[in-house]
This record gives sequence, structure tokens and C-alpha cells, in this order.
Amino acid sequence: MTAAPRRADGNPVRVGELSLDQRISLLSGGSFWGTRSIPEHGVPSVTLTDGPHGVRHQRQGEDNLGIFDSEPATCFPPAVAVGSSWNRDVARRMGQAIAEEAKALGVGVVLGPGVNIKRTPLNGRNFEYFSEDPYLTGVLAAEQAAAQESAGVGASVKHFALNNQETERMRISADVDERTMREIYLPAFERVVTTAKPATIMCSYNAINGIPAAENTWLLTDLLRREWGYEGVVVSDWGAVQDRVTSLRAGLDLEMPGGRDSSPELAAAVADGRLEQSVIDASASRVLELSAYHGATGSPVDHDRQHALSRTLALECPVLLKNDGSTLPLRAGQRIAVIGELAENPRYQGGGSSRIVPTHLDIPVERIRHGATDLGMTVEYAAGYSLEASHDAATLANDAVETARRADVAVVFAGLRESDESEGFDRTTLTLPDDQIALIRSVAAAAPRTAVVLFNGGIVSLEEWHDDVDAILEAWLLGQGGGAAIADLLLGVVSPSGRLAETIPLRLEDTPSYLTHPGEQGHTRYGEGVMVGYRYYTAVDHPVRYPFGHGLSYSRFTASDITVERSADDDTALTVEVLITNAGGRAASHVVQLYVSTAAGPVRRPRRELKGFVKIALTAGETRRVRLPLERRSFAYWDSTHDSWVVAPGEYRIEIAENADRVIQSTTITLVGDALPTRLTIDSTVQEWIEHPIYGQMLFPTQEGAEPSDLTMIASMPLRQFLNFPGVPLSPRDIDHILAADPVSG
Ligand code: BGC
Repeated sequence: MTAAPRRADGNPVRVGELSLDQRISLLSGGSFWGTRSIPEHGVPSVTLTDGPHGVRHQRQGEDNLGIFDSEPATCFPPAVAVGSSWNRDVARRMGQAIAEEAKALGVGVVLGPGVNIKRTPLNGRNFEYFSEDPYLTGVLAAEQAAAQESAGVGASVKHFALNNQETERMRISADVDERTMREIYLPAFERVVTTAKPATIMCSYNAINGIPAAENTWLLTDLLRREWGYEGVVVSDWGAVQDRVTSLRAGLDLEMPGGRDSSPELAAAVADGRLEQSVIDASASRVLELSAYHGATGSPVDHDRQHALSRTLALECPVLLKNDGSTLPLRAGQRIAVIGELAENPRYQGGGSSRIVPTHLDIPVERIRHGATDLGMTVEYAAGYSLEASHDAATLANDAVETARRADVAVVFAGLRESDESEGFDRTTLTLPDDQIALIRSVAAAAPRTAVVLFNGGIVSLEEWHDDVDAILEAWLLGQGGGAAIADLLLGVVSPSGRLAETIPLRLEDTPSYLTHPGEQGHTRYGEGVMVGYRYYTAVDHPVRYPFGHGLSYSRFTASDITVERSADDDTALTVEVLITNAGGRAASHVVQLYVSTAAGPVRRPRRELKGFVKIALTAGETRRVRLPLERRSFAYWDSTHDSWVVAPGEYRIEIAENADRVIQSTTITLVGDALPTRLTIDSTVQEWIEHPIYGQMLFPTQEGAEPSDLTMIASMPLRQFLNFPGVPLSPRDIDHILAADPVSG
């Protein structure tokens, strides 16, 4: 980032030097993609463009959204793929590379990363988000944002907050309790804001518990600024502002895009006293600070190098779901049938505002041919189906089956079509198109072995054909270098190392939000609470097709010797150590997953929660000691009676797991936890009074011969009501006296 605008004497321009009109003018965009400049004070316009997995920069004057018409840029793996990489380096290198391209185009802020949690697999925009898990999302997104920022290009973590569906996204109210927000939907934002300090944060379109995010003082000011200490600019999602005065007062600094000029509205509100000028000044000075992101310059971009990087990053993301009989990797001398139009016409990104015009595109079948020839394999290709409606569907399918019959291994490329998922709408089903399912099944019946490669941004159901095939490689949407990466994985140049960042359920009906997504009558009720994704399936022991964290390798890894090192002065600051061995015959990368499991505390906890991970590369036979830190937050729950994070006293299992369902090493620790003052009031229950060390016996002495059930009946009664019953020898005044004499705390 360059310095903020300076006056001729070299000092930064301060908001006090601007007229009120100039200050107000900074609070809404000057164009579709730019802030307003004030040339007389040397304040430049800052360009913001879409990301998050590439720079979608549009030349001035082209169609507004520019979705199909932006300057070519490297299309890196979308967040769905980065999430599955479980690799901080992937996110970091991508952030740096995007910043390089942004600087070459004079772009100050790239709008990303998107950190909304995958509450439902039907969200049409899930390809732009990392995971169903807040920790995995937060860690990867913070790496990407921090890398972008340290290269001098602003990030914009989005969409703040609770934008977990596309259906009615501009007016739905996400109705959520605070514990669920704090534990599931906000931590990724919190981590990015507090560690990467992004230049901007983008508020979402939806409402939260009835109040639009753009007008939500609790969200944009109390939480974001007062609690998290955010100092950057809050920008609206494009077109999210309804009432400019209310949104500004709530904490929304910059309205985008430019077009509707809300300056007169703001000026009038200041003039008639509805809006204090200090609110204008605070927001205007933040936007002024954003000018520091103007005009960062970089060296010309080496697009070949960027493309090579997109391949390297893509290699880390696909997840090998199934590999019976070591069908993959393909072997020297085999006859390979590559089947499916997606092998020739791959999907590599999703539709909507994140769509990049790539500089280059690797075609999977070409890359497989290229690599296979060197290994002495033969490759035949058949389209098998058409992504567009086609008159010769039967011929395409028959040709593919005949091609499969002649092969040793058939590799079928299947997946969702462009029209199946996008920003702007949700899916209604998890299934693949019918013609593709039929093709997979008939190819599998004809070929000795069948592997399926999947291209999809949201998860798809595997149920209709899973048992018919030998291997499945979930490739997601991999960006422009994905074709080469898939070839390398299929041919065994590199072992797959991705892990699922979201559960693949057996049925859509099993998903925890099934009954409440996409909501009704303007509200979507997050009734499943914190039990999102694997937190739900593991808590109720519900079988899934593949659990969160699952992913196979061409090698084999073992874990042993778990230990926990505790710090002397803080019993929640721990380091977990475990020995990881590559016990298979080849070099490969492996994801070490650390979960914490507890039933401690007054709230229902998920069965286990991800609290640490690292991806390591080990040569065949190599063993490494891995150290993973845990901190206070790793153990805490959000306590809504105390409005704070609380570590409950009790036992905690520290688990190293292959996935959310399979723990391979564990140890138990006991934490002293937080001592919470329990203030008794007249509305505390009889049980709560009984449990008090002094007043329990005083008010409820143990009665000879009393049945425990006598107590069970009255235990949950607030004392106030209990006192109304005949024969109770106390009055509310007695209780008032007790409480006044000594505000009782236990
Ligand atoms: C999307 C944002 C995007 C913006 C600008 C909105 O519709 O929700 O993610 O950055 O448009 O294109």
C-alpha cells in the first residue's frame, strides 16, 4: 500500500481540511468500482474489484456487472478447493499472487475472501466459501487476506454476516441465537479482522434477527469495532443500502456502487439534526485512510508463472474419496478410456460476481494424454453426454460404453453444469444430472475398472452410483490449472492430499438445516443451532457417506505417541505433540487433524470440534513430530447468561483424528475452568437455591423421610412462584432482606 493522500507540505490530508460536502461525498462510490476522488485535496479514487480467487477487473465504461467481460486474469482455485487443501500455504500464495495482478492493474482492493459457513449444501454460492467449519474457514481466509494486505492490496472479508443462502438473499432474515452466531458464523470473520486487519469488510444483504446487516449497529459497531477493534472501512455489498442515514449511523462507512447519490440525503440529515456530524467525520476519515491503497504498483505480471502457480495450488485440493483395489493411480501400460464432456470442457469456477476470464485453461483430457504417453499408456476419449441439450444423447452414451469396454480403466468426468449452481440462487437437489448418472453406471458395467472425477462447487450425492465404481476423485472447481493438476493426480505424479471441508451426507434429508432452509415468510430459522455439518452428524451418531476431514492418499500414514505439554501459568495454553509416520511406499502430504471433545458446561456441546490442523509432506518411511497449539478459545463455549466466552471446568479429550468420525490417538486433560459467579435472585429456581452452599440448607433443610421425587417436582420452579404456594414459611420480603443484606453469590 502507498501512503495516504498528502498535501503539498507532505502531511496527510485530514478530514478537518475537507468541507462537509466533501466529507459526505467520500461516503458513497464515485463509480461502479471506485470511491470518489477529491482532486483539489489530492484524494484519489480507489478501485475495488471482485475476487476472491482472481482479479475481476473491468475496463471503465463496460457493462456494469462485467460478469462476462473483464480483463483476463489468473483464475486460481475457488474457496471450495482451497478449503479442501487444508493448507495454509495454498491460501497465502494465492493471496500474494492475486495482489501482484491487482497491483499491475491499479486495483487497490480485491473483494474477498468470502467466509460464510456452509450451513446447507444447497447454497448456490458454496463454491465461494471454504467449509462448514469456522476454524478451518477462519485460518485459511486469514492467510489469504493477510498475504494480500502485506503485498499492499486491500482485502474485503465478506459477506458480514449470516449470508448462508442465496434464496431471497437481499431480504431474508437469518434468525439465529447469539451462541450459534458466536461459535459458528462469526469466528471466521473475527479471525480475519483481528489477525489480517483487512482494509475493508463487506456487509451482507440479508437481515439478522430482523435487522438488515447494513443497518445493524450491534454487528457493525458494537461487535466489529468495540469488541474486535476493527479500524478499517465497512463497505456495503453492492446495492445493500436501503436507508443511508440509518446505515451510516449503524457503522456502514462506504456505500457501493456509485450511482444513486446519497449525499443530499446525508447533508439534509445533518442539517436537520437527525445525524450528528461526528458520524460523518468518523466514516469519512476511514475512507480517507483507504486512499492509501490507491496506486500501489507492481512489476508486470508473468502470466506463465502465475498459471504454473495455479496448477501447483490446484494439486493440493482434490479429495480422493474412494480407491478400491488401488485403482488409482493409473499404471504404465494400461489402456485408459477418458469419458465425459467435462474432461474436454471442464468446469473450473462458479457463476456470478467471482467469475474470472482466465488467461489460459488446462484441458484435463489433453493433459492426461500428454502425461500418459510418457508412461506408455494409451488414451481414448468419448464425450458420453452433452452439457447442452443434445439430439444424439443415445449415440454419445453408446460410444462411451464401447470405448470403456476396450479399456483397462475408464475414468468418467462428471459434475454439475454451469446452470446448476451459481451466485443468486440455491440448488434444490444434490444429485448429478440424470444422463451422467446413467452413463457412470453403464460405463462401470462395461469397464473392468472405473474411476469417477467430479467437478462441482457444492457437494453432490454419490448414492445412485457410488457402489458401482472403484474410485472417486472429488476435484471441485479447481481454477484454470485444474486440468493439469488432475492429470498429475490420476497418473500418480503426485498423491492426492485434499480432505473434505464439508460432510457428504447419505441424503439431503439428513442435513441439519433440511427443515428450515431456505426459510418461509421472510425468515430462515437456524434451529439446528451450533450443530452444523459434522457437529450434528457426530452428536447424533448419524451415518454419512463421507465425513468431514475424510480423504485418501496413495501412501499410508500412522499417528502415535500423543502428548500434551501444559503451560505453568495458563492451563488452557497447551501444545499437543504427535508422531506422524509415512508408512506407505511413496512421498505424500498428510493432514494432521486435531479435535477437542467435551461434555463440560451447562450447554450441549458438539461431540467434537476441529481446533488445529497442519499439512505436512513426508517422504516414504519418514517420521515427524508435529506440534499443534491450543488456546483458551479452543475449549470455550459462548455463555449467553454471562455474555462471554467461558471455559467450563471439567474433562476434555484431545483427539488426533483421520476425520470427524475416526479418532486415532487421544488423551484426556482436566481444566480448572472459569469460576462463574452465580448470582441468586428471587427468580432463581428452587434447585439453584438448594445448590447454594449456605442458603441451600438454610431455606431447604433436608427433611426426614422426604422422597427425592418431592424435590424433582418443585426443583425447576422459580423461587418467586414457589413462595406463592400455601405453607411456604417465607415471603418475598424475607428473600429481599436476605439478598439486600448479602447479595448472594456462590
Ligand atoms: C456480491 C459480492 C460482490 C459484489 C460486487 C454482490 O452481488 O454479493 O460478493 O463482491 O456483488 O460484484
